[in-house]
Amino acid sequence: METSAALPGPADVDKYLVEKLLAPEPEMAKARERAHAAGLPHIEVSAVQGKFLMLLAQIAGAKRVLEIGTLGGYSTTWLARGVGPGGHVTTCEYEPLHARVAADNLAACGVEDRVDIRIGAALDTLDALLAEGGEPFDLIFIDADKENNGHYIDLAITLGRTGSVIVVDNVVREGAVLRPGDPLSEAGRMVNGVRQGIDVLGSNPRLDATALQTVGAKGWDGFALAVIR
Ligand code: SAH
Ligand code: DHB
Ligand code: MG
Repeated sequence: METSAALPGPADVDKYLVEKLLAPEPEMAKARERAHAAGLPHIEVSAVQGKFLMLLAQIAGAKRVLEIGTLGGYSTTWLARGVGPGGHVTTCEYEPLHARVAADNLAACGVEDRVDIRIGAALDTLDALLAEGGEPFDLIFIDADKENNGHYIDLAITLGRTGSVIVVDNVVREGAVLRPGDPLSEAGRMVNGVRQGIDVLGSNPRLDATALQTVGAKGWDGFALAVIR
């Protein structure tokens, strides 16, 4: 059978866009490799998506960012660059190994001073943040256990303020979002969590939301974007 090796695909276009639009980032590339070498799953945002998050933080003028789901700190680093030297990122991670790799990576990328990694189940960390009563977050990036997306979005509203931005990763999942998932499978529960999150985004009167499908190095997925009213 004839192969279609000559036909470009979304990953090839991502490569082209990275070459044209993103400055070479050797430390960030090494950070990504360190995470993979430590056995962390390869599910971090792509480079163009990471820069998109950085630019969103800059467009929002965000100085305080909350991230749910650190992994090896790749998206965290982009967000930390987005808030600039005077800004701050609080990032929630359940797995101590992921948090350790992330701490090393944030240091290697020179942003460790503006990032606080909170180890534990994010629902507990968010409760603690509410109890601490700090300044509201300007941007909240939700990218952890999809089962809790609805709860994370509800809590993001409480931890944000009017005008804060909420971004949710992985809301399309190759189209799986269209149908309820099997609650007996992990993938099905994840889809159900994504769907609950979409329902909250669409029904909470304090939110004005949209979502964009994405293709690229990570396949077919999407980001939801909301502003708190
Ligand atoms: N934002 C990262 C990717 C995060 S992957 C990036 O794009 O670079 C999702 C992460 O969420 C994993 O590291 C996983 O361990 C973490 N996680 C899963 N359940 C969690 C929970 N209940 N609380 C906090 N973190 C959780
Ligand atoms: C998965 C999680 C993510 O945050 C992601 O961006 C891609 C995949 C996952 O758990 O399958
Ligand atoms: Mg994700």
